[in-house]
Amino acid sequence: MKDLKIEINYKFAQLTELNEKDQELIKAACKATDHSYCNYSHFHVGAAIRLSDGSIMIGANQENAAFPSGLCAERTAIFAAQAQHPEFSIETLAIAARNDNGFMKDPITPCGSCRQVILEIEDRYKQPVRILLYGTDGVYVLNSVKDLLPFSFVDSNMR
Ligand code: THU
Repeated sequence: MKDLKIEINYKFAQLTELNEKDQELIKAACKATDHSYCNYSHFHVGAAIRLSDGSIMIGANQENAAFPSGLCAERTAIFAAQAQHPEFSIETLAIAARNDNGFMKDPITPCGSCRQVILEIEDRYKQPVRILLYGTDGVYVLNSVKDLLPFSFVDSNMR
């Protein structure tokens, strides 16, 4: 029996260290938190996507009295982008969240279901999705969702 290790990679940056396009995307994610419908959790999450044509699309979490019927910010943005612009791949996804005390100090990371959906996008377009996770103390920068989802499962695993 062997002990094996999987390494994940990410960067920690101050907002001002990022290039203008990434800063713009994070600002769009922050603004998207205003579109959150979170009457139950009071946790406002915003997502912003940079498509391969350079345009930005946003999403925000949408909750429901029947809890499982709601959807995370990431998936509202991704599914809207896919429904409207399937011809463009998703280059970068930024996520920001705030509660009643303001934006979170530490970045939040996507839930398991959102990670799987981002992975499907990488598999569909054969291109990694960069991920920017905003916190007021700094931003986590990941080059692929695979760094959030080791041992991932995609279509090719069924063949
Ligand atoms: N939520 C997101 O929108 N994205 C995440 O990455 C984590 C959680 C939402 C779902 C729910 O509306 C609220 O935050 C509390 O879980």
